Parts: sequence; C-alpha cells; structure tokens
Amino acid sequence: MTAEPAARPIPQLARDQQLAMYRRALKTLPGGTDSNFRAWGEDTVYVDRGKGGRVWDLDGNEYIDLRMGYGPVILGHADERVDDYVNERMRRGVSFSLTSEDEVIAMELLKELNPWIGKARMTVSGTEATMHAMRVARAYTGRTKIVKFEGQYHGVHDYALISVAPNNMADLGDEDNPVGLAWGRGIPSEIAKTIIPARYNNIERLRALFERQGDEIAAIIVEPVLGNAQGILPQPGFHQAMRALTEEFGILLIFDEVKTGFRFARGGAAEFFGITPDLATYAKAMGNGYPAAAFGGRDEVMSVLPDKVSHGGTYAGNRIAASAARKVLEILRDTDALATIHATGTTLRAGISSLLDAKGLAYHLTGHPSMFGVMFTEHVASEYRDWAATDHALYDAIAVGMHARGAMPEPDSREPWFVCEAHAQGDIVDRTLQIFSDSLDAALEARARG
Ligand SMILES: Cc1ncc(COP(=O)(O)O)c(C=O)c1O
Repeated sequence: MTAEPAARPIPQLARDQQLAMYRRALKTLPGGTDSNFRAWGEDTVYVDRGKGGRVWDLDGNEYIDLRMGYGPVILGHADERVDDYVNERMRRGVSFSLTSEDEVIAMELLKELNPWIGKARMTVSGTEATMHAMRVARAYTGRTKIVKFEGQYHGVHDYALISVAPNNMADLGDEDNPVGLAWGRGIPSEIAKTIIPARYNNIERLRALFERQGDEIAAIIVEPVLGNAQGILPQPGFHQAMRALTEEFGILLIFDEVKTGFRFARGGAAEFFGITPDLATYAKAMGNGYPAAAFGGRDEVMSVLPDKVSHGGTYAGNRIAASAARKVLEILRDTDALATIHATGTTLRAGISSLLDAKGLAYHLTGHPSMFGVMFTEHVASEYRDWAATDHALYDAIAVGMHARGAMPEPDSREPWFVCEAHAQGDIVDRTLQIFSDSLDAALEARARG
C-alpha cells in the first residue's frame, strides 16, 4: 500500500505590516493604491525599497523583481550612475517651466538612437505621449478617426481606453465586426466612436477597414508587440504589410514604443522589426523609472508644432525627467547594457523551456528576450483573443507561487516578465529558474489533487 504523497508545504510570506497599510490606505486611496493595476485586494504589495534586480516589501520579504515597475527599470533599481546625476542636477532646482540643456540633449539622444525621427518633445507619462501623438496625427491629416488593435494598451486617456483588456472576449464583439469597448465608465461615447478597434496580425481585415473608412482615418496606433498579452509577436511580414497599407491610404503609422523603446534595440521595435513609422511614443526605459516620456516623428508631421497644435505641460521636460533621460540614454548608447539584458533573457527563456519540456506541457514562449511570457497552449497566439484559450489559470498559479517563494512576476498571465541589466548579477537567473521550477511543481501537484 502506498501512502498519498504529502502536499508540498506552501511558503508563507510575512504580511502583517502590509495588511495594516492596506487597511489604512483603503480609507484614503480608492483600492488602497494610486493605480487600479496595483490594487490586488488583501494581497496588495506595499514596497519599501529596491536595488538592482531585487525589491523588498514593507514586511521585509525579498523578491527578484520580474515586473520592474511594468517595464521602465531597464538598468536596475536605484542605479547609482543615473541617481547620482539626477541628484546633482535636481539641487539646482527642479521646475522652472523654462528649458534646460538636459532636455535638448535628451531629445538629441532620442534622435541619435532613433535616426528616422526629425523632431521630438518630452512629456511626463506614456499616456500623455500617446495622447499628443494622436492629436498631431489628427492635425496633420485633417482626419478624426484612429485605429487601434484589440488588447493593446496605450495609457489611460479617453482615446486609449477602447478594447483594451476584457476577460470575456465576447465583449469585444463579433470577430468580423469588433465593437469599440470602453474600459470603465466616464468615457463619452462620442469620443469612443472616434477609435476603431482592429485585430492584430490580420492584414486582410485591416485592408478591408481601410478600404471602407480610410479617408476618415488619421492614424493607426500600434504596440509593435502585444505588451498587454505576454508580448505576442507580429507574424512575419505583418509590420511591413501594415506600413505599406498605411502609405497606400495616406494613414499615419504611430509606433507606441512605450514598452519596446530602448529595450528591443537602441532604436526600439522600429529598429528591431526594420520599420520606419511616422510618429512614435516613448516612456518607461528612457528614464529607468523616473517619469520621462516623449513623442516624436518625421519632420513634416511634427511641423504642426508649435503653431497649429496645442502641446505643453508644467512638468514637460522637468529637470528630474530630463536629466534621468539624458543619463539613461547615454548609458544605453555607450555600454552593452542591452546586450546583457538580451543575453540574460535568452538564458531565462532557455531554462524555462527545458523545465516545461521535461513536464511534457504544451506551451509557447512569447515576446522578446527582454520582455517575454509563457502561454500554456498548443497554438501560437497571434492576437489578444487567443489569450482566452490559453491555460492562464496554470500560469497564474505559478506566478502566485513564485511570489511566495521570492520572485515577483505580475500575478496576471497577460503581463510579461521584464528583464533589466542588473538581473545578470549574482545568482538571480539560477534562483529565478529554481523558483519557477518549484512553483510549477506545486501548481501541477495542486491541480492533480483537484
Ligand atoms: C504601450 C504603452 N503605451 C502607453 C502606456 C502608458 O504609459 P504611462 O503608464 O506612463 O502613462 C503604457 C503603460 O504601460 C504602455 O505599455
């Protein structure tokens, strides 16, 4: 007679301080946080500090950070090269609504790394960058509508929150006739109607849409990979075909490089996929966590600024953002930080593959070595709707198990892991793989037990 194997003990995290903070914060901040995306109920994490590729919460639990603040921290937390420079600059005063040399240098660097760009301006967030890029496109073309792909995230302004991330794919409407689904209340239907949802990796449907409504469409805004669905990749030739189609119909192509910029390559996804868009938006990696962002484009398109289009902002190009962007972009230009990140991501992906192969599970790795995910599915996902058919319950169980064991991916199977330069240090890669392996075993055992 064989005894039932004992269930693996589930590691416990200390949570007392954070639970107390959650209850306190709930009285003041909706959901206990400043962003809906961080509101994880009683599991909401309250952070103490980060260093390199690691982060510590208020209870002193240490994690390998695989979220990296949803992507911005490309070098590592508290990077002294960046922080020392920002600290030195900020002592001269931070906000003048006057223009500093760092702003000019930061945008010169942005152009140097993305040589197709003629003019660029700083904003404070990716949300602002996509909002302004859309306005510039509308102003330049004299058209009103913007096409965006289902499942793509472009920030939290009204024009961006259409058909972003429903759990139920039926909410997106018929596959042949997707509906514009506003994320939450408060978005006027007149505004929602100016955004036309389309399906990623489906060039025939895009052509049909352009043939039907092309003369109303100012631009298509595109996350070069589906950053909101584990970084689903374009099929070979998709970006090239989309670029050709936009040119045929006089529609501008906006690459939203907020996640991919200065990450996939120094010149972002545009360089990586060999595409020249008309406009692009940047944020995240350009500031290593400081709130630096920008939009830029071809000279001719950007020529609507400053006279014909409104753009401004008290904090646009503020000293902290500009000095951070200057330093980060210099580091990315002058060092092999990106090569290190890509090598670390490649090693992590290979390790995950061999662990999953050994289990005989059906899976696909998605994205780019610097920003990738795992989808448990027989089929390669090609658009947001495909995520629903993956075994995301298994992924989520692994992710939650990883938190308990000391590594922190997002506990939502749509969000990729983000790799930073500092993840190459010490035993972070080996430890991450060990934690993934233990969490996978535990999740499979729990499933087997029902
Ligand atoms: C592709 C993309 N665009 C825009 C944004 C909005 O940027 P922010 O959060 O800085 O407003 C994000 C944020 O995750 C993003 O991933």
